[in-house]
Amino acid sequence: MSDDAEGNPGKLSFPEGFIWGTATSSHQVEGDNHLNDWWAWEQAPGHIEDASTSGLAANWWQMAEQDLAIAAELGQNGHRLSLEWSRLQPARDAWDERAVERYRQILGFMRERGLEPMITLHHFTLPLWVREAGGWANEQIVPLFVEFTRRAVDALGDLCHLWCTINEPMVYIAMGCVFGVWPPGRGGLRASGPMLRHMVRAHADAYHLIHRIQSQAQVGYAKHVRLFDPADPARWADRRAAGLVDYLFNEAALRAFDDGVVPPPFGRALRRNRAEHLVDFLGLNYYSREMVAFDPRRKDEMYVHRFANPASPFSMEGWGEIYPEGLYRALKRLAAYEVPLYVTEFGIPDNTDSQRPRFIVEHVAAIHRAIQEGVPVKGAFFWSLVDNFEWAAGWSARFGLIGLDPQTQERTVRQSAGIYGRIAASNGLERGLVAEVAPDLLPTLFSGAASG
Ligand code: FCB
Repeated sequence: MSDDAEGNPGKLSFPEGFIWGTATSSHQVEGDNHLNDWWAWEQAPGHIEDASTSGLAANWWQMAEQDLAIAAELGQNGHRLSLEWSRLQPARDAWDERAVERYRQILGFMRERGLEPMITLHHFTLPLWVREAGGWANEQIVPLFVEFTRRAVDALGDLCHLWCTINEPMVYIAMGCVFGVWPPGRGGLRASGPMLRHMVRAHADAYHLIHRIQSQAQVGYAKHVRLFDPADPARWADRRAAGLVDYLFNEAALRAFDDGVVPPPFGRALRRNRAEHLVDFLGLNYYSREMVAFDPRRKDEMYVHRFANPASPFSMEGWGEIYPEGLYRALKRLAAYEVPLYVTEFGIPDNTDSQRPRFIVEHVAAIHRAIQEGVPVKGAFFWSLVDNFEWAAGWSARFGLIGLDPQTQERTVRQSAGIYGRIAASNGLERGLVAEVAPDLLPTLFSGAASG
């Protein structure tokens, strides 16, 4: 693994032009997004773990530039952000030009500072008027989403050519319907089929539309790939259980967004007139893996028991195993789709920044390993640039390279920001940095290098 494009044994180099960025989403950072369904959800008691609300969030609607300037100073050259549909289109017949102007300012600032934008069109939140019309459960959302996409690309297309239609469709469906802990908070398993079918159609139509408007556009979506490994690989029932969970969470959606054909149990695998090709790139959001055991007592959970590998280090309680190898495995898996890949999110909840430095080094090394084996990874966006409102976990889980006190809006640039910055600035992982952060990794990462 010590080989390196520049022939430098002291560095794991990345391809020229690799994007080193961070990712955020509108509701989590902008603040005061009171016209969407998440805002309404937060106000109801019991929905947010620490009883907090998004409130001003990281106040990006007023001062995104403050954090983006830090990102650029630290050597990053990209940023993934999302548009807040409820700001741009607060009602069915309204379109807010001031909101357009604000996004143009933010995107313009990013471009000036050398941060290549990737825009996500849907990152979990819906305008209240779309929610009231049934949200993703109602097929009427498809033309509404496409119309929103048309307006957004018309208004911002000169500033961005990397478009991510939908963020983590299966996380949205699992959390919103199956577990019911996010909006809409109902629907159960039965609602997951129609929802996925509507999302795939919305993606497909948006994909073609964006290409009609913008010839050089690159369009994809972000898939959260979780690894599901059998608790006991020698046990047939565990292997079957892991395969089932993997199919439902990973495989079905990966196939559906690739060619527009939604497989059972979510769809009937009806082929349209022609097989479509619906992604120019795949976005991978990777966080963790789960071990899966067959458990005959868990009838309501499809006889499946999922848990974090007790033998591995884990991040904050409840957030799962730290498993960098999984990022490499997920990238290898996505390589089968034969399109460029972006790691559209990877990150760790770590309020004290004690695990994040090593996490960054190990995960960047995993990306490098995949690239060395021919996987076409074009960039990586760390989650996240700044602490933000972490959905149902509220402010209890901090993911930022920049720490934030949401009350005072005071920022602290964490040690890990500098580490990620050094990787970005040198477009690679230098031996010296690994020696500082995780010296025990030196023999594996730089096996051929006597010194560095
Ligand atoms: C992902 C979401 C993102 C953030 C991270 C921690 O599933 O896309 O908004 O919440 O997890």
